[in-house]
Amino acid sequence: MNILIMGGPGAGKGTMSEKIVEEYKINHISTGDIFRSEIGKQTELGMKAKGYMDQGLLVPDEVTNAMVKSYLEMLDNKNGFLLDGYPRTIDQAKAFDEMSKGTSLVIDKVLALDISLDELTARVTGRRLCRGCSEIYHVTNKPSQKEGICDKCGGELYQRKDDTVESLKVRLEEYRTSTMPVLEYYRKQGLVSVIDASQSIEDVWNDTRKALEAEV
Ligand code: AP5
Ligand code: MG
Ligand code: ZN
Repeated sequence: MNILIMGGPGAGKGTMSEKIVEEYKINHISTGDIFRSEIGKQTELGMKAKGYMDQGLLVPDEVTNAMVKSYLEMLDNKNGFLLDGYPRTIDQAKAFDEMSKGTSLVIDKVLALDISLDELTARVTGRRLCRGCSEIYHVTNKPSQKEGICDKCGGELYQRKDDTVESLKVRLEEYRTSTMPVLEYYRKQGLVSVIDASQSIEDVWNDTRKALEAEV
């Protein structure tokens, strides 16, 4: 099963992705996570992406499409994959159609995490991530047992550089203008299941599983 998960910044894509990947044993391809890892390693790709990401702007399509293509070529998991944060422009969606046409990479299902954009500020500014294992926390919605320390691996928790109110404004605008049309693109193809992402993490997960089980 090949799944695409969509939603605004902080809607819960990463949080649901962790659960989907564990349950269905599929590959997680998060373009945001890949860019952050490349920035951490100070690669050429990372350096290309950094300026855009810090400001909350989208990385140019040609950079992102080439990166996704090379990741898909390395895929060896027969169970499928979960794309998180890609495609998020119409050009990326068309490029992905080209890459996947006539192959086993065609998208079976699009999950749309639906939440009003003004609820996202609290999610994004309260988010904390583990440096060791990338587990996602939230200071009030999903706190770690010991402040600043990961429950799973004891790693240090940190805040993403783009999780500021200023960057978030830009990310929301990018979402509205570039990514919402992509949702419409897949809706017309009948692939979209809308999930109410304003619910608790457990309830969002129950609805996500139901939407996916209609497929397997
Ligand atoms: P990316 O990393 O994809 O960021 P994003 O889309 O802004 O989404 P987030 O990762 O911030 O949110 P999320 O939906 O994963 O939420 P999470 O589960 O963490 O992209 C970052 C940047 O990379 C972009 O701005 C761009 O520069 C670049 N980029 C990436 N892909 C690109 C592309 N295709 N093209 C061009 N550029 C690209 O949850 C958020 C918080 O809320 C957490 O604290 C969590 O604990 C909490 N939470 C989650 N669900 C719930 C719930 N149901 N109830 C309460 N709290 C919840
Ligand atoms: Mg994410
Ligand atoms: Zn950890």
